[in-house]
Amino acid sequence: MSAPTLPQPSAAQVEARVDTLLGRMRLAEKLGQMIMGERASTTPEDVRAYHLGAVLSGSGSVPGENRPADWVALNDALWVASTDEADGRTPVPLMYAVDAVHGHANVRGATIFPHQIGLGATRDPQLVARIARIVAREILATGLDWNFAPTLAVARHVYWGRTYESFSDDPSLVATFAEHFVHGIQGTLRDDGVLACAKHWIGDGATFQGIDQGDAQVTEAELQRTHLPPYLAALRANVQTVMVSFNSWNGTKCHAHPYLLTEVLKGRLGFSGLVVSDWDGVDQVAEGLDAAIVLSVNAGVDMIMCAADWRRRLDGLQRAVERGEIPLARIDDAVRRILRVKVRSGLVDRARPSARPWALSETFGSAAHRAVAREAARRSLVLLKHEGATLPLQRTQRIVVAGKHADDVSHQCGGFSAAWQGTHGNEAIEGGTSIWQAIRAIAPAATLSVDGSAADPAAHDVAVVVIGELPYAEGMGDIRPGGRITPPLPGGLRTANLEPYGSTLELATRHPEDLAVISALRAKGIPVVTVLLSGRPLLVDRELAASQAFVAAWLPGSEGAGITDVLFGDHDFEGTLPFPWPAAAPSPDGVAPARFPRGFGRTYR
Ligand code: GLC
Repeated sequence: MSAPTLPQPSAAQVEARVDTLLGRMRLAEKLGQMIMGERASTTPEDVRAYHLGAVLSGSGSVPGENRPADWVALNDALWVASTDEADGRTPVPLMYAVDAVHGHANVRGATIFPHQIGLGATRDPQLVARIARIVAREILATGLDWNFAPTLAVARHVYWGRTYESFSDDPSLVATFAEHFVHGIQGTLRDDGVLACAKHWIGDGATFQGIDQGDAQVTEAELQRTHLPPYLAALRANVQTVMVSFNSWNGTKCHAHPYLLTEVLKGRLGFSGLVVSDWDGVDQVAEGLDAAIVLSVNAGVDMIMCAADWRRRLDGLQRAVERGEIPLARIDDAVRRILRVKVRSGLVDRARPSARPWALSETFGSAAHRAVAREAARRSLVLLKHEGATLPLQRTQRIVVAGKHADDVSHQCGGFSAAWQGTHGNEAIEGGTSIWQAIRAIAPAATLSVDGSAADPAAHDVAVVVIGELPYAEGMGDIRPGGRITPPLPGGLRTANLEPYGSTLELATRHPEDLAVISALRAKGIPVVTVLLSGRPLLVDRELAASQAFVAAWLPGSEGAGITDVLFGDHDFEGTLPFPWPAAAPSPDGVAPARFPRGFGRTYR
């Protein structure tokens, strides 16, 4: 494929181009640029008539047959509508954004990488840059131009359902990955990259009890020390968009926080790109939608992400301006930022999506891309226990493969994969390989028995048992001792209040079927190698005790062969814990005694 073809404009050229566009735009066109509609409720005609600045696909929101060609066709139609010049309309190409947080995992046949917690275990920022490059190219193959990644959360409480989207609880590690990920995704901000998005500003990983969208009850010094460094790194890497966090900081919603959004991010830190709200995050800051729009736009939100009813938000924005509740200067600043990002990224000069260099590229989901995902999966594995020289396995051994995740690529991928809350089975993740399929491919004497009942010490030398958490995303992955949040959070704060995953970090309580399989095999005298698929460290002392070997595999993605590459000794373990592994339930501020410290990881040597 080709190198970047568009010249890089100077800062002065960018501002001059923005001035020209802004000077030509009518108020209705400016307000439209500040609205991001969701695919399912936004048509090309909407984009043309209301000048919408962007469209997104929420996780699982896919066009047609969900092939790259369907995505390119959709974005062609939206792009043509947005650049229409009829009736004196100002042509401003729209941006199309997705959550390609571990690969372009919405799209059938995409390469799916380990979630960020697993990449944190590799401690290799160069690998993360290579992955980001591949993800950008798979996004470009579908004609899109904006990735809502990387998540820069420094997750401080493993009860949080988004822990797996965090690289680590170590700010310096997250900052290093942030810089490399942004460089990888954006490239030179020409044809060869897509826009990155530093999210969620700020303190999403700091909430009380790890409650998703909850209240980050931390001092400003703690915010600066722990949660700011990744953003400084992303800004250094020239990140062009920042997404506001749902959480609050000491009782005030980030979406309505002028100090955080304008005084700090745009003023003190000099961020000159655009600030986008989260999914209807604006709605949560006040009882009435109009009042909420006024609060959040005046606080510094430049683009409003609308889950469904973008028209209500556009009308609310218009009423706010007509009433003088949002100054025109704020509208011009927001639109200037949006236009600046579109000019800087070359979007205003790019051909229609289908005519761009990487459109429908054959590299989408290619063997070369999958090889990197396989390498990342392999290097993310952390060996927590190894007794009796059980590993490495031999290809000639009679291996019984068990556990509910043994033959399930969806469970290897977790949330934000084909669907927001993830899926089940192998069909939804086209082109992937389950751990069972990878073992069967190299060990002809292996057999699959998900519940372990077919295991027979006379017929089997060793067992591989794949256990862990079922897929989840955001608040539905929270561990909440008190169950669903019934009383509102401090200060009456609202959250999405989703049904949490459970009330304990204890795997044997949440999924007793896992320990049952391990124990039954152990009772038959068959040595057990346990592979844990999870979005976070869990309390697994009983599963550990019953296993000869125990591997933390996180959410390794579509390439199950990455696991067998290490289990069969073709490569040694090299992953180390990106978070401390707790020995007991953490306190409300996330502190727990460690079973294994951050940085722990055994090897064969
Ligand atoms: C979600 C997430 C955010 C994501 C957005 C769009 O609620 O908080 O990370 O980018 O919506 O899908």
